[in-house]
Amino acid sequence: MKNLVFLWLLVILIGADFTYAQDVAAKSDEIERKVDSLLGLMTLAEKVGQMNQYNGFWDVTGPTPDEGDAAKKYEHLRSGMVGSMLNVQGTEEVRKVQKIAVEETRLGIPLIIAFDVIHGYKTISPIPLAEAASWDLDAIRKSAGVAAEEAAASGINWTFAPMVDISRDARWGRVMEGAGEDPFLGAKVGYARVKGFQGDDLSAVNTVAACAKHFAGYGFSEAGRDYNTVDVGTSTLHNVIFPPFKATIEADVKTFMNAFNELNGIPATGNRFLQREVLKQDWGYEGFVVSDWGSISEMISHGYAKDGKHAAMLAANAGSDMDMESYLYVKHLQDLVDEGKVDEALIDDSVRRILRVKYELGLMDDPYRYCDPEREEEVIGSQKNQDLVLDMAKKSIVLLKNETDLLPLEKSGIKIALIGPLAADKDSPLGSWRLAADANTAVSVLEGLEAYKGNEITYAKGVDLITEEASFIKETKINTSNRTGIEEAVEAAKGKDVVLMVLGGHGFQSGEGRSRASLDLPGLQQELLEAVYKVNKNIVLLLMNGRPLTINWAAENVPSILEVWHLGTQSGNAIAEVLYGEHNPSGKLPMTFPRSVGQVPIYYNYKNTGRPTIPAPDLVFWSHYIDESNDPLYEFGYGLSYTDFEYSDLKLSNNSFSGDESITVTFTLKNTGSYAGTEVTQMYIRDLFGSVTRPVRELKGFELVTLEPGESKTVSFTVDKELISYYTANEKWEAEPGDFKIFIGGSSNASMETGFTYN
Ligand code: NOJ
Repeated sequence: MKNLVFLWLLVILIGADFTYAQDVAAKSDEIERKVDSLLGLMTLAEKVGQMNQYNGFWDVTGPTPDEGDAAKKYEHLRSGMVGSMLNVQGTEEVRKVQKIAVEETRLGIPLIIAFDVIHGYKTISPIPLAEAASWDLDAIRKSAGVAAEEAAASGINWTFAPMVDISRDARWGRVMEGAGEDPFLGAKVGYARVKGFQGDDLSAVNTVAACAKHFAGYGFSEAGRDYNTVDVGTSTLHNVIFPPFKATIEADVKTFMNAFNELNGIPATGNRFLQREVLKQDWGYEGFVVSDWGSISEMISHGYAKDGKHAAMLAANAGSDMDMESYLYVKHLQDLVDEGKVDEALIDDSVRRILRVKYELGLMDDPYRYCDPEREEEVIGSQKNQDLVLDMAKKSIVLLKNETDLLPLEKSGIKIALIGPLAADKDSPLGSWRLAADANTAVSVLEGLEAYKGNEITYAKGVDLITEEASFIKETKINTSNRTGIEEAVEAAKGKDVVLMVLGGHGFQSGEGRSRASLDLPGLQQELLEAVYKVNKNIVLLLMNGRPLTINWAAENVPSILEVWHLGTQSGNAIAEVLYGEHNPSGKLPMTFPRSVGQVPIYYNYKNTGRPTIPAPDLVFWSHYIDESNDPLYEFGYGLSYTDFEYSDLKLSNNSFSGDESITVTFTLKNTGSYAGTEVTQMYIRDLFGSVTRPVRELKGFELVTLEPGESKTVSFTVDKELISYYTANEKWEAEPGDFKIFIGGSSNASMETGFTYN
């Protein structure tokens, strides 16, 4: 009888799934029909209008072009020459512009409203690099869901996120916006974030269309200088840069953004190989590609286009479907079609892609569906959202050192000095991309700690980090001269049981346009740290920053270090919970911390070179520095816990496999310490030789395992052909026969080892 019930349930479930699939297919056929018939009604000018995106009338996220005056924008809106706007926010404002598009243009096609909802809308989540440190895909997905829900409630339909650029260079300010250096982790995180933003139903009022950016290579800007040249070879492009983008397509990402950089001599925006061949042809992508801000006109500065008209032609022919803020499509595309320089079929293709997303969002049925002020009021900042971003924030924290077990702190009876320019800062924790958030709305570390009444806290700022109020668009000036607060901080530290020092980078010191040539603690913070250390060595350093820093002195001298990033609205509460042991830290670094900026770019999955090791004592002829070790300060995947984990019993179901077979790797993880905790177990694989040289190891699996003290668990990973495939000398993804090593452990230095052969 039980079996019968089970069978019936199965039939019903399969049936439901089947009906759902049928519904989806029918809906998309219907959308295709509608898109086609609308396209048939459109004049060339109206089509070009759909391909034009203007910035709103206030918040600017890039340099304003000369033509960018409001009167012109209104005129174009009224004549149906605008398909999308960015930086319009709030139901009231969105409704205003939408009303013009719907009621005053001939065909009444609604706008798609875009916004940089990068790590939260009003309720701010940790910066994406921090979220990646959690390796917790479910939490990451939910965090993107919070952002989507709030943005959609505020009239927004489309976020310019996730940024899935891989970067190995911490000088680049935008590392804060991605998932770090690894393509495998980057792909998983990118997938989760797209799913979080778009949900299961794009037409629901709590989801937005996502945008995979920046296609491609932007994270490899030379010397980490933003907007700089990118020159990378085929293998790096396919094996490192592309995988996260492909993963977003698997997650059904609705849009792509191209990039400011040139790639091997051709600007990404005018790059046919990237947009037409790889993305639209090889990967069969059906969404649309938006240019980056003004990147079509920037092809003139690149020296690739001779003037605006030429730039428009290059971009349209290369597959850029929408022009963000260059004003060039709207100015030249009609002439270019009339002159036969751009085929109208390409324009139709772009417009079809754009209209499809508008239909999927439900905008064509009800353009005002995202403009409900009551929902806006109710959803934004809700307790549910605060709880979710707090959970994300706690999971993002990485314990880098806890040598004398200073942490977790006693809840009562101790005296604490809280020192540093970021200790009471309510703004920096909001990070860089938080355009819609109100300034100073993060819970500071001081506030977070004050919620625990048992201990006495003495606060001293010590030094100022910046000289004047910082903002998203202006250069952030770091204070390097005012030492007047150092003495007060030193006094505060004297005789205390523990000194918590909150140092790092200002929220606006990482992000777009914020490259750094030094990775040291900015300003006078190192001086402050050393002055305090002289009177009290019991320091817990809370690093609040948006990128890996070179903190060698602290790593050597300070007993405890927590990487707390820029954690968003709930920052101080998350940090306090970790300091007091209510949450046991489990984050692992998604990006290598170098010892010296001279080691950058530095990453764990490097190539071995022909001279990897010292051939004989004192011999100089091997790949190394004469003044610095090759090793990083903290490697990729590294992070401690208040408890200890022991790995043992590594086994393989078989030590060889062929074709479509697979093998299983198993091992035991035991919590040998005295706190419950979560460990991010990691599997790395090394392909010993290939038709193209292979990295010394590559992340190929991870799983979060939570254990009580004394508890152990068997963990398993599957290895199959797909997992060991890469872009080979045959210029395709395939698995090459040969020998492989497997490493299991808690970081990219994992040492428990076995191996297999693929035939
Ligand atoms: C430029 C940035 O590169 C891009 O990521 C962002 O989405 C646009 N500006 C719009 O603000």
